[in-house]
Amino acid sequence: MTDLLPAAADPGTTVHVTVRTTPPGVTGRGPLRLDWSVTSSTAGRQVGYEIQAAPTQDFAAGVEGIGPVAGADQLDVTAPGGPLRSREVRHLRVRVATDAGWSAWSEPATVEAGLLAPADWRADAVTLPDDPGAGEQSPVPLLRKAFELPAAPRRARLHVTSLGVHEVRLNGVRVGDHLLDPGWTAYRQRLLVTSHDVTDLLTAGPNVLAGRLGDGWYRGRLGWDPQEDRCRYGRQVGLLAQLEVELSDGSRVTVGTDATWHASTGEVRSADLYDGCAVDLRHHQEGWDRPGFDDSRWAPAAVVPLDKAVLQPRVAPPVRVVQSFRPERSPAPGGAVRLDAGQNVAGVVRLTVRGRAGDTVTVRHAEVLEPDGGLHTRSLRSAKATDSYVLAEDGQTVLEPSFTFHGFRYAEVVTDAELVAAEVLAISSDTSPRGTFECSDAALTRFHENVRWSQRDNFVAVPTDCPQRDERLGWTGDAQAFAPTACTLFDSRSFWASWLVDLAHDQTADGAVPSVVPNILGDGEPALGRAGWADAATIVPWAVHVAYADTEVLAAQLPSMRALVSYLQGRRQEDGLLGGEFQFGDWLDPDAPGDRPHEAKTSSDYLANAFFAHSARLVARTATVLGDTEQARAHTALADDVAASTWARWREHALTTQTGCAVALELGIAPAEAEAEVGRALAGLVRDAGGRIATGFLGTPLVLPALTRTGHLAEAYLMLLRHELPSWLYQVDQGATTVWERWDAIRADGSIHDGVMHMPNGDSQMLSFNHYAYGAVVDWVYRTLAGLAPDPEAPGYRHVVLAPRPVAGIDRVSASVATALGPVGVDWATDGGTFTATYRLPFGVTGTLLPPAGPDSVVSVDGRAVAGSVTLGPGEHRVSVTEADIASPMQPSLR
Ligand code: BGC
Repeated sequence: MTDLLPAAADPGTTVHVTVRTTPPGVTGRGPLRLDWSVTSSTAGRQVGYEIQAAPTQDFAAGVEGIGPVAGADQLDVTAPGGPLRSREVRHLRVRVATDAGWSAWSEPATVEAGLLAPADWRADAVTLPDDPGAGEQSPVPLLRKAFELPAAPRRARLHVTSLGVHEVRLNGVRVGDHLLDPGWTAYRQRLLVTSHDVTDLLTAGPNVLAGRLGDGWYRGRLGWDPQEDRCRYGRQVGLLAQLEVELSDGSRVTVGTDATWHASTGEVRSADLYDGCAVDLRHHQEGWDRPGFDDSRWAPAAVVPLDKAVLQPRVAPPVRVVQSFRPERSPAPGGAVRLDAGQNVAGVVRLTVRGRAGDTVTVRHAEVLEPDGGLHTRSLRSAKATDSYVLAEDGQTVLEPSFTFHGFRYAEVVTDAELVAAEVLAISSDTSPRGTFECSDAALTRFHENVRWSQRDNFVAVPTDCPQRDERLGWTGDAQAFAPTACTLFDSRSFWASWLVDLAHDQTADGAVPSVVPNILGDGEPALGRAGWADAATIVPWAVHVAYADTEVLAAQLPSMRALVSYLQGRRQEDGLLGGEFQFGDWLDPDAPGDRPHEAKTSSDYLANAFFAHSARLVARTATVLGDTEQARAHTALADDVAASTWARWREHALTTQTGCAVALELGIAPAEAEAEVGRALAGLVRDAGGRIATGFLGTPLVLPALTRTGHLAEAYLMLLRHELPSWLYQVDQGATTVWERWDAIRADGSIHDGVMHMPNGDSQMLSFNHYAYGAVVDWVYRTLAGLAPDPEAPGYRHVVLAPRPVAGIDRVSASVATALGPVGVDWATDGGTFTATYRLPFGVTGTLLPPAGPDSVVSVDGRAVAGSVTLGPGEHRVSVTEADIASPMQPSLR
């Protein structure tokens, strides 16, 4: 094969390589994997490649290679060199053979391993002795260690993690820009370590390494039960840091946290994720994190037990400030100042005030305003979401809370000091933007933006349901519903991969998946195994694979996926079906009683079996990708069997609800010969309802795909573009800047839903203005309105299905997805009956164009008349379709 590769050079081709750090949790245990994108003015396709790994950037010695290999692979390719060792630095480069010759080597991509083995650690976790924080909120521990370096550093790395959340400083300078490190994982099995390059922060002579500790998820409030919402993971926080310095003379110095450190407290008197932060600057210890500070009155640090076997390098993206806003200011009742960021965010307010010593400043937060203009805080339930400050001196001070965040658009500041400036800092797990969408319908464009924000705001270390109330948990149902959309909007591959490791850790021995991951709800009902929640175990890895071509995530998760299915098998009743258990079901069906969101129209037993069949099928598909034909065969048989019995039992019922039909079509429950009939039933239900949404968390993401699959586009658009309650665009008209949890969170008369719930396990209240689950429709907007869809058979957008389905009323759409191969994009427009589009496909990507052609259309691609579907290669293509097939919802509610 490889002798078919060219010998000549291809100077017109350039390769850009990126290393996929292996799934979190197995770094160092598997070989690295690479993606590369190619740009070329000379070549049309890749025919082979060669990869090299070396310890130095010049590739002068110690080179290991793979290839030349014949093939077009550019995604998810195994790199040479095997697993990394602790502290190893490795450079990787790629060159490709094209139909025009060999490219030059790419610029190298560099990876560096952290500490991969428990034995690498000499440090011990430390904290303040007799820290009272376990029982109540208490001052944030400060920790410091002064040390000398006999010579200037050549290279220095700081490996750090904590029980609780931390911030570290070297010589008074904050190390890195991560917030709330080490994030939230299944701490008892997995605690993430961040490694920082701190070479530039050290000098010869005296130095100080210092840190602060917050309660975070480890010890702070977590969950809505005030009786047991603290100390979920432990009673003592602790900082574990190991600084490894290589000096200019070649010698090495290691400074680790241990009993020789000193501990005290400072101005942060309390910090909690839900309640906020209290700062009293009169307790500030000036210079505490720098050399020369007298720490003789500080206590010796106490060592906290920490099992080094749970330490793993962080590979998931850290939480950072991702955007800042200058809020509008206006007077609020009682002399307060109201701030309006114009955007609902997860984040904090930073203030600059000018005041006098002893002045206080209080900042409260809320997502929306009450009709009378006051802050709406009822939805926060018990989360105080309040930051407070006491000034220590006269003059100007910058105030910012630590170790907390709030879900808010509005804040109210009460103070006697002068408010000089205010900034709203939005935080998120820092995934890079991937999808862009804009169209001539301003409301739909804004809805897309709202969904992006709900993702940003809810991707804070784990995928949460909401960022504001006393909850913020990794609800698995919300995650599975939204995962495909999340993968389109932001590069969330490693974010999901990390969370899935925790999901598997939190699965019970018999395979049940908790309703929230990390699981803090225990192992009773409704904490385990709910249909459409537990199935995140199969649905999320598959969504990641389709979007990014990630066989490694599939391989890592297959045991977890199989375990869920075998758990469900074990719960089948005599008739072979699941039944009779509590289910969240089609949660928040707008026709369910407002206070009992689980009492949806669609049978939850039907849904339980449909998701069971679907999960079994996803195991089969995964096993097929991984080459395990036996596993694939057994799970296909199981899926077919469960689907057939489910259909036999619930066919009639399924045809009566939108969720029933959509699930039957999208989860493969209806047999192929029944699809058209189910599609007609669904379309009829949608038409009869005038496009009104009649589905909850499980049905909503599937309705438009099901209508599209069966050719009922007019009905799909009737729903998408509806403005009356309940609909996606209603909330946009109401001024929403994120996606709401309840369709009618704010009613047409401006009143706010009371959110009251009566559940089998007790009464509660639930109303969030920032829940991404219903935003799942955005994936359909990319696939169908814009017409950009990844093909599961050639995942990672190696092959895309370009099937735009225009609709009357939207005459212009632009969309793109920044794939690892390069940006895939389309701009289309309709004018009269003519559809015109420009496609951009990067090197390595092919597309199948299914033009929106009617019976009398003339279709041309790049000036040539064509018929039927057309294959497009890399490059820019112009498409036009006369007398195009343009869907027409023709309903009064369509603007
Ligand atoms: C959460 C949801 C979640 C649901 C499960 C709620 O409290 O906010 O989004 O999926 O409970 O029933």
